[in-house]
Amino acid sequence: MLDKKVKELINQQINKEFYSAYLYLDFSNYFEAKGLDGFANWYKVQAQEERDHAMLFYQYLHNNNESVTLDAIAKPDVVLDSDMTVLKAGLKHELYVTSLINDIYAAAYEVKDFRTMQFLDWFVKEQGEEETNANDLISKMELFGSDPKSLYMLNGELATRVYSAPSLVL
Ligand code: FEO
Repeated sequence: MLDKKVKELINQQINKEFYSAYLYLDFSNYFEAKGLDGFANWYKVQAQEERDHAMLFYQYLHNNNESVTLDAIAKPDVVLDSDMTVLKAGLKHELYVTSLINDIYAAAYEVKDFRTMQFLDWFVKEQGEEETNANDLISKMELFGSDPKSLYMLNGELATRVYSAPSLVL
């Protein structure tokens, strides 16, 4: 049995991660419509990773004999009016997700739930990588986004991102 608050936060995180997947799919949708297929691919892969995150939290609750409640997934709420708006919204969202992971970690720490802390260690590291990726994308766009040829090459680079299953297995 997990602590009530820890369990509730993890249950909420399932929903937050599925929302993240939905949000990134919307980003992909935006770039698909603009013909920037590499950017669209990059965010589609990101959406797949977020779905995996949701499933890891889902499985962790089941592995600990806890019930799971699945809630409605909210409509993506970011107004996508420029390429840079999308990229910056991605970074803002990842900073928010990091704060959520930290909140769960703090709740687990409070009750000496070492198992959950160890489980969350993977997500702490993952969030560092996600923030770096979002920051890198913004930097590259700032450097190359205004030049069509450079944007074409950046789009080509992002087209090479491939999905791989998470390294954490439960
Ligand atoms: Fe599941 Fe991008 O954090």
